[in-house]
Amino acid sequence: MSNMIGLFYGSSTCYTEMAAEKIRDCINDICGNDLVALHNIAEDPVTLMADYQYLILGIPTWDYGELQEDWEANWDTIDTLDLSRCKVAIYGLGDQIGYPEWFQDALGYLWAKIVNIGATAVGTWPNQGYQFDQSQALTADQKFFVGLALDDENQFELTDAYIERWSKQIIQEFGLL
Ligand SMILES: Cc1cc2nc3c(=O)[nH]c(=O)nc-3n(C[C@H](O)[C@H](O)[C@H](O)COP(=O)(O)O)c2cc1C
Repeated sequence: MSNMIGLFYGSSTCYTEMAAEKIRDCINDICGNDLVALHNIAEDPVTLMADYQYLILGIPTWDYGELQEDWEANWDTIDTLDLSRCKVAIYGLGDQIGYPEWFQDALGYLWAKIVNIGATAVGTWPNQGYQFDQSQALTADQKFFVGLALDDENQFELTDAYIERWSKQIIQEFGLL
């Protein structure tokens, strides 16, 4: 049962990394197992994603709606992966007050790529309780984000509770609980 879930993240100023560690600890608490293996994609190849049946991907948005640099560097490689048997949950870091026109855009771009290569996405998250003008990370009906949207700049106090709730949700959607 160990390390069934690969959690791959890119992080320039450590917030997405901190969330990765919290999600890992939370899932291990819920499941009572060492289920989650962390991979910082600045160091580990994204080709390792294909070794897992369950994936969690963490991506912050940078520079007015752009990908974080390690995701950018690996963007084309992801298209070559066979993730058709994978269930994938994605979370993003962003700043809704500083960048309200681009809030969590990279989360939306990664979700679209993952779905496009045939993976099954889980983990949508309600968009109430946020203040922003536009986001590329909304579902078609505009009621949800395509994954967990975290904002440690403006809502740090909500992060732990959101992670706890989302971790339970995705473990259920993965069919592991
Ligand atoms: C120069 C700069 C540009 C940013 N651009 C965006 C943006 O376009 N959209 C957004 O939602 N957040 C944006 N952010 C906020 C980051 O996503 C946020 O700080 C995040 O926590 C960084 O995660 P990391 O430390 O894992 O790299 C920006 C932050 C900085 C400093």
